[in-house]
This record gives sequence, C-alpha cells and structure tokens, in this order.
Amino acid sequence: MRQLGGDTLVLSSNDMQLGRGETIADTARVLSRYVDAIMIRAAKHSNLTELAAAATVPVINGLTNLSHPCQVLADVMTLEEHVAPLKDLTVSWVGDGNNVAASWIHAVGRMGGKLRIGTPEQLAPSPEILDWAKAQGADIHVTRSAEEAVAGSHCVITDAWVSMHDTDAASRHNLLKPYQVNKHADGGAVPGAKFMHCLPAHRGEEVTDEVIDSPASLVLDEAENRLHIQKSILLHCLGA
Ligand code: NVA
Repeated sequence: MRQLGGDTLVLSSNDMQLGRGETIADTARVLSRYVDAIMIRAAKHSNLTELAAAATVPVINGLTNLSHPCQVLADVMTLEEHVAPLKDLTVSWVGDGNNVAASWIHAVGRMGGKLRIGTPEQLAPSPEILDWAKAQGADIHVTRSAEEAVAGSHCVITDAWVSMHDTDAASRHNLLKPYQVNKHADGGAVPGAKFMHCLPAHRGEEVTDEVIDSPASLVLDEAENRLHIQKSILLHCLGA
C-alpha cells in the first residue's frame, strides 16, 4: 500500500474493541468508514467471511486456517517468471494438506495445470475443496506417496509441518516425517524441478538445507513476489 502511495493501519485484536465484545460485523462497519480496503489474517475462516459480509470496502484474505490465496498468487507469478504459465505445468504439493495447499487447489481449479498432492491421510485437504476443484474439471491427484506426488513435477512445494493455528505439533511431526523434501543428485528435490516454500521454513524438518539453498529453490523470489502481487491485488480491489 505504501509503495502505491497509500497509508496503512496495522490493528491487532488488542487494538480494536473485539476483545471487549464488539461483534466482527460492527468492527467491519466501523473500519469501512475509516479505510479503503481491509486485509485480515484470521485463525478462523468464518471470522473473515463475517467481516467481509458486513464491510462496505474490499476485504482481502491475508491467511486463514482454511486458505492463503495471496501466497499462492505470488507462487503462480514466480512459476510463470521462472518456468511457464501454470496451465502448462505439473506442480507437486508434499506434506500437510493445509491452508496453502487449499489455495493451490483453488488456483488449479481456476487457472489450470496439474496438481499432485502427497499427504498423510489424516492431513489430506478437505473433500469439499477437492469436490469443488473436480467440478471445475481440475486435474488433481491426491496420494499418500510423496514419491508418486513428485514424479514428473515442474515444481515441488511444501510448507511447515505446524501452521500458526495448529496445536498438535508432536503428532504432526510423526505423520509428516516421510514427506520431507530432501536432496536429489542435482541438489534440488526432483531433477529439473524447482522448489518453493511460502516461508518461514523449518530447516531439517519439511525441507533440508541442500534443497532450500539449491539453485532449484525459488523461495526468495517467491517471498519478494508477495509484495508485488499484493500491490496488484490492491489495485484490482480498488478498481485502479
Ligand atoms: N501454513 C502456514 C503458512 C504461513 C505463511 C501457516 O498458516 O502458518
């Protein structure tokens, strides 16, 4: 927003009246009188939808327990810069079938391309999102096998085993150990494939140093592209 010449207010729940019992809807109505757009990061997706329903300015999903569209738009931009348009690519997601994975399913449902997801059964993406993608004609395959998920991939993507809203760290570590993205002969994960991770990475857990620091790794461009894509999301929302 600042690079576009605007200004920002950063409000945590402690800065607002939510903690004193104000409803999310009232907060949305009040904030809409002060600002031109709201970006919300919420542990509960329903808090985002409640805010968006009552707000009279655009509301941007800055991450919820269910999805993380801003991240995946930056990821798609990064892949297009380095490899090709998403519709021509096979992308692999290995590890937790979390909020970023859900947004990848949405992206492939909207933009095409092939998505291969390798997750343990307990952490697989929700059937509702997969059914939505199927109805869009998306080419998505979910498997328990990390090897199957990464075969023939243009880019292997993973994320932290424990996300911000997760509380079951120990069981997640056990379940996700076999899904670590680790070294292949060329230093990447799959020969010729790129590697992405939304960061922060837990080196030695979901990914090894060799992979995240290899020439195949796009993580820093991916991080920078969050900045650029979010300017474009703001311009879109503000009708500029
Ligand atoms: N899945 C992660 C993404 C962090 C950008 C989380 O929700 O914590």
